[in-house]
Amino acid sequence: MLDHQDLEAEVHPLKNEERKSQENLGNPSKNEDKLKSTPPQSRLSRCRTVAFFLSLFLCLFVVFVVSFVIPCPDRPASQRMWRIDYNAAVIYDFLAVDDINGDRIQDVLFLYKNTNSSNNFNRSCVDEGFSSPCAFAAAVSGANGSTLWERPVAQDVALVECAVPQPRGSEAPSACILVGRPGSFIAVDSFTGETLWNHSSSFSRNASILSPLLQVPDVDSDGAPDLLVFTQEQEEVSGHLYSGSTGHQIGLRGGLGVDGESGFLLHVTRTGAHYILFPCASSLCGCSVKGLYEKVTGRDGPFKNDPHWESMLNATTRRMLSHSSGAVRYLMHVPGNTGADVLLVGSEGFVLLDGQELTPRWTPKAAHVLRKPIFGHYKPDTLAVVVENGTGTNRQILFLDLGTGAVLCSLALPSLPGGPLSASLPTADHRSAFFFWGLHELGSTSETETGEARHSLYMFHPTLPRVLLELANVSTHIVAFDGSHWATAERLLDGAELAPRPACPHLVTGVWEATHLCILLPGIRWLIYWF
Ligand SMILES: *[C@@H]1O[C@H](CO)[C@@H](O)[C@H](O)[C@H]1NC(C)=O
Ligand SMILES: *[C@@H]1O[C@H](CO)[C@@H](O)[C@H](O)[C@H]1NC(C)=O
Ligand SMILES: *[C@@H]1O[C@H](CO)[C@@H](O)[C@H](O)[C@H]1NC(C)=O
Ligand SMILES: *[C@@H]1O[C@H](CO)[C@@H](O)[C@H](O)[C@H]1NC(C)=O
Ligand SMILES: *[C@@H]1O[C@H](CO)[C@@H](O)[C@H](O)[C@H]1NC(C)=O
Ligand SMILES: *[C@@H]1O[C@H](CO)[C@@H](O)[C@H](O)[C@H]1NC(C)=O
Ligand SMILES: *[C@@H]1O[C@H](CO)[C@@H](O)[C@H](O)[C@H]1NC(C)=O
Ligand SMILES: *[C@@H]1O[C@H](CO)[C@@H](O)[C@H](O)[C@H]1NC(C)=O
Repeated sequence: MLDHQDLEAEVHPLKNEERKSQENLGNPSKNEDKLKSTPPQSRLSRCRTVAFFLSLFLCLFVVFVVSFVIPCPDRPASQRMWRIDYNAAVIYDFLAVDDINGDRIQDVLFLYKNTNSSNNFNRSCVDEGFSSPCAFAAAVSGANGSTLWERPVAQDVALVECAVPQPRGSEAPSACILVGRPGSFIAVDSFTGETLWNHSSSFSRNASILSPLLQVPDVDSDGAPDLLVFTQEQEEVSGHLYSGSTGHQIGLRGGLGVDGESGFLLHVTRTGAHYILFPCASSLCGCSVKGLYEKVTGRDGPFKNDPHWESMLNATTRRMLSHSSGAVRYLMHVPGNTGADVLLVGSEGFVLLDGQELTPRWTPKAAHVLRKPIFGHYKPDTLAVVVENGTGTNRQILFLDLGTGAVLCSLALPSLPGGPLSASLPTADHRSAFFFWGLHELGSTSETETGEARHSLYMFHPTLPRVLLELANVSTHIVAFDGSHWATAERLLDGAELAPRPACPHLVTGVWEATHLCILLPGIRWLIYWF
């Protein structure tokens, strides 16, 4: 979009002016009569002020024009923003987006807990065999917030995973799978809300359910990925395998013999072996899917082991050398040239591990990371990781090149406790726009004299690394926040390639006010489209 010089000029608008002014000053005879009436110093400073504001104005104008005015190509008609109120509801930290009604605008799926459904749809908790209040799943139109379907799904929801593919020829192309508390397991068609299957789960009452729900390659040959749920009971993690198309349990519970925490990652090594990685008692643990499958079913499955990984994995403690300092907090996949690498985020730092050797790709970075990092493109087509170093007033946002581990940019952006995670959306220049929630009125140092802290949503684009655009501000507790782009829906529905037209980004926010009110803002108002 901008070449380096232009960028330089935008970032340091005064530089060129200064140079010009100095040239002029060095040649006074030329300007003598012009400068006669005003003292040179004040005239110069006025010039600089004018130049500064002119370039600032131009800069913001470009951002506004490019971000807000130029619309996405053939965008279907939709309201710019809408809200729905749910009185006395508890909202779960979950949002999924998909084009449910086929209008090419992403619709929003979410969960809430209530006594009655919001629209008085005639299905109540009791009709579905739950006591009131129970958890409802709802799908609302992204265009105007009208309810597409709404139904009770569980007494309480422990795990949810949407867009789980279903076998060819089944009623629905994809399902939302919900693991409920206590003991329910249900798949609903995300397009209609109808039940695809429903069972009571085999977990014992005392078991805590660990996240996330993993999808493993099809083991029961029904054409759909199968599901792996981990639970923890009496300091032992167990795996439970279920058919993805019927929900029937495959085999029995398979105990791993170790303590563990949520944050499971299914990793495929470069040799094609499947391993589960998870944080356990402050270190990194792993187990082979082959071993687990054999333990659960008592027979040989379609999986294999990797000899190198077997040698790295202690058979009794299941520990692996993690190269991290402190407890393991998050494990995330990073696409590499020859397979996925693993980003390991610990309590005292983070490091990228090679997906086969598990050796660090760059020297571990010391940082205090409390929240899950996000990925995006800071430079065109080059993936970067965005981590939050510190919290509250000390929060610093770091952009790191995943190839080298170099810090590309760092932003000091104070946050309020309980702010939602950041998001990134691809833009047409092969970079990403980044969205951060932070303290409202960054400039003012005085802290909330009114007693009411406000969260603001800021947008950052690497083309203008000095500009942070405030998009919205709310005084409430935000439960969930996500971004998506509506072109992906076409791929999901038709199985066809993405349309050549650039994707239109879309932001969704679930806001939970103190009065238990939920507002959803699909960010049509904030469509960003870069050339
Ligand atoms: C729930 O709906 C039923 C029937 O529509 C109504 O009688 C009842 O008062 C409602 N309960 C609440 C708490 O709104
Ligand atoms: C809901 O209402 C529809 C028609 O209004 C009816 O066909 C259906 O049986 C009702 N369902 C329940 C659970 O009452
Ligand atoms: C689950 O299935 C049972 C009968 O098989 C049915 O009574 C119950 O309403 C179903 N629950 C849900 C949430 O669909
Ligand atoms: C909301 O938008 C959908 C299309 O996405 C349309 O079918 C429906 O009639 C609209 N509802 C209202 C209340 O405007
Ligand atoms: C569940 O936990 C309670 C108290 O911790 C214990 O008394 C009970 O035996 C446990 N039940 C099972 C099935 O382990
Ligand atoms: C596994 O770890 C335990 C405890 O740290 C240790 O005693 C044992 O020798 C290890 N086994 C192997 C094969 O390294
Ligand atoms: C994170 O912040 C700490 C202290 O604020 C600092 O020492 C450390 O260098 C930062 N990490 C990175 C990678 O910049
Ligand atoms: C922030 O909130 C105030 C008060 O609601 C509003 O006047 C202002 O326009 C908001 N700013 C933005 C950028 O939305």
